[in-house]
Amino acid sequence: MKNIDWGSLKFAYTKTDAVIYSLYKDGKWSSPIVSEDFNLPLNCYAGVYHYGSSCFEGLKAFRGVDGKIRLFRPDQNAKRMQTSAKFLDMAYPSEELFIQMCIMSVQANSEYIPPVDSSASLYLRPLLMGINPQLGIRSSDEAMFIIMASPVGTYSGDLSLVPGKAVIGRNYDRAAHQGSGGVKIGANYAQSLHPYNLAHNQGYRELLFVDSKTNSMIEEFGSSNFFAIKNNTYITPSSPSVLPSITNACLRTVAEDMGLKVERRDIPVEELAEFEEVNSCGTAVVITPICSIDDKQILENPEVQHHYTFGDGTHCGPISEKLYNQIIGIQKGKIEDKYGWNIFVDCK
Ligand code: PLP
Ligand code: COI
Repeated sequence: MKNIDWGSLKFAYTKTDAVIYSLYKDGKWSSPIVSEDFNLPLNCYAGVYHYGSSCFEGLKAFRGVDGKIRLFRPDQNAKRMQTSAKFLDMAYPSEELFIQMCIMSVQANSEYIPPVDSSASLYLRPLLMGINPQLGIRSSDEAMFIIMASPVGTYSGDLSLVPGKAVIGRNYDRAAHQGSGGVKIGANYAQSLHPYNLAHNQGYRELLFVDSKTNSMIEEFGSSNFFAIKNNTYITPSSPSVLPSITNACLRTVAEDMGLKVERRDIPVEELAEFEEVNSCGTAVVITPICSIDDKQILENPEVQHHYTFGDGTHCGPISEKLYNQIIGIQKGKIEDKYGWNIFVDCK
């Protein structure tokens, strides 16, 4: 294992040993290539640069209490990447190739898998890009599928399970009503960069988007899904423009097993006043509690229309904390994985 101060890792890029990539040309994918060179030469006319022909994924590998290495639900990421690539009319790797390359990436970078007692993990970033030179607007017919790996800490630095503030800026949409919100394409994140900067500069940890059609229903955070707890019920938005989060799907299963009711439905912003616990959830953020949400009409302006608060402001809600412990417990082999979510990776 590398000599890294695992506890001080943020959700940031650390150079590791290798990337794994495969090239798609003339209707087929090449055998995966292991490369120590992270600076890949791409033609400057590649579609990814001009027309945003890119989609990506995020998943994590963990060192378990039994010393075994577990990769969490790569099959689900493979399937979601296929959906994203179909949206872009691009070639995509098969589920088998996707999982094979994730395993190769974990093996090639196994020295960077954090110890079990740290809150860090090895984050894999699979990326699919259109690479053939082109000028006109059309889908790419040659592609690169690459998997990067980096040890990461929690998304909010060392603030895991310490609640943060969020803001709704109703003058920015994350995704159009009939647009790309339900797939994980790079363009969705480009859309969120400027409003994120505004939110961060005002001291908010997260930015919560509402739906772009009525501007009134909660959708998701820029980095993660939204879920709330009210009357022993797990409530999360149902919308075609929200990314179908794998973490959220796992949490719904775990919540039901814990005896909670689960609701996926429209959530009007005003319902925030009734929630006992509010969180963001996703691979990077895991579960990150939210202690307050400011509803702003115009993100740039200082005026806040409504200020909603949740819990005591300093602790994660008790039900959310139980959910967190279940998920982390399964990922690290502390709790039986009765759902078969982990795959084991043999590392030297
Ligand atoms: N929503 C957005 C916009 C995201 O970027 C992510 C992260 O992947 C999620 C939700 C959470 O999805 P998952 O739990 O599959 O990581
Ligand atoms: C992830 O959680 O894996 C993501 O991709 C979110 C990221 C954009 C921070």
